[in-house]
Amino acid sequence: PEPPAEHAVPQAGRDGLVLLRRVGRVDPASLDDYRAEGGYAALRRAFALGPAGVVREVLDSGLVGRGGAAFPTGRKWEAAAGRPDHPHYLVCNADESEPGTFKDRVIMEGDPYALVEAMTIAGYATGCHRGYLYIRGEYPRAVRRMSHAIAAARSRGLLGDDVMGQGYAFDIELRRGAGAYICGEETAIFNSIEGYRGEPRSKPPFPVEKGLFGKPTVVNNVETLVNVPPILLAGAGAYAATGTAGSTGPKLFCVSGAVARPGVYEVPFGATLRDLLGLAGGTTGTLRAVLLGGAAGAFVRPGELDVPLTFEGTRAIGATLGSGVVLALDESVDLAGILLRIAGFFRDESCGQCVPCRVGTVRQEEALHRLSLRPAPGDAAGDLALLREVGQAMRDASICGLGQTAWNAVESAIDRLGVFSPREGSPA
Ligand code: NAI
Ligand code: SF4
Repeated sequence: PEPPAEHAVPQAGRDGLVLLRRVGRVDPASLDDYRAEGGYAALRRAFALGPAGVVREVLDSGLVGRGGAAFPTGRKWEAAAGRPDHPHYLVCNADESEPGTFKDRVIMEGDPYALVEAMTIAGYATGCHRGYLYIRGEYPRAVRRMSHAIAAARSRGLLGDDVMGQGYAFDIELRRGAGAYICGEETAIFNSIEGYRGEPRSKPPFPVEKGLFGKPTVVNNVETLVNVPPILLAGAGAYAATGTAGSTGPKLFCVSGAVARPGVYEVPFGATLRDLLGLAGGTTGTLRAVLLGGAAGAFVRPGELDVPLTFEGTRAIGATLGSGVVLALDESVDLAGILLRIAGFFRDESCGQCVPCRVGTVRQEEALHRLSLRPAPGDAAGDLALLREVGQAMRDASICGLGQTAWNAVESAIDRLGVFSPREGSPA
């Protein structure tokens, strides 16, 4: 049996939370519970503001995408809303597959109506009458709970031809992924929904211009969307007062590895990595490094734990927040083994459409394999040079984010942790 979502949320039900406030507190099946806890007040507010007013609030809030790339949500919405060609589509990217990422699952399992309401608001603001919720196939409980929530909302007039009696038509169709990591790439989702092989398309054109079925499409991550009701309820100014000027609002982090209480934690942007590890009960064992941002992310050293968890703060030390992965590694960990796992993952999940990624991910794994066998035969300096050359080619010439980021963690382990250096353990 799958463990309930609340088990992954040590803060479940606590006061002061914004995104997780209902998780563990409401019955996720009950629309009445959701409404009793403030649900659908934000949609009412959206109808009062009108579509342009909602987009204005989202722009002013400073909300940026929480899937990993941090693109300003309001700019995306404004661009799609202004497109004269119709229909417009909304796609919620719930194909959460970044290794170490499980925050969207917790929202969908623990507070499914929040996502239904948020998608309805996003659709209203951007002129969409149909939204697709694309959930990774390995999340059966999320699929069940979201299906139930969509059906219940429809039966109560909160989806359908006349949402809340406001003359606005909107409905949500749920689609399941089939286990391919690449189908979380936004344009591969379009292909998947349209019935084609899940391969990314070249960008530009961006989805806001030409997306699903060739029409203007807004794609947002689950966590991004569930920030919208709190923005409308608190007002953009109050929302933006949380966090920092460059990273506004609350953020979910998926803390795992060598910590006492792994799980999903909500903190305001600007909390430090040390604060977050403290919330998770502290590290177990002597800390060797923290992998921030997942397989496409970077390693942070024990001496850097005071880095503020903001986009600008992590960028300043050459790291990234990505989708919120915080994987603590202690001294017992075989770093070369972890890099091999990451490289194998990218090799396996590459869709094979473009040469730099299709060939580069294989060459990267081979070189890492040789390096990890040292002092067995092999030219360490040559393999390190090869890794850099291949990594740069993947970054510069791959079609999509998978190939462009497949070398990030390996590069960071070599440069920041000194892996494979003669003095392994001291950064190069
Ligand atoms: P991207 O930077 O290409 O785009 C980000 C978003 O902004 C997209 O929706 C894109 O369409 C939009 N955008 C960019 N420029 C635009 C423009 N000029 N006009 C309108 N829209 C524009 O990044 P991408 O490839 O969508 O995402 C990469 C990130 O995904 C990585 O940082 C990685 O951390 C994350 N990721 C997350 C996973 C998860 O499970 N949450 C899985 C794999 C990767
Ligand atoms: Fe496919 Fe990799 Fe090219 Fe992306 S970068 S399109 S995953 S081969």
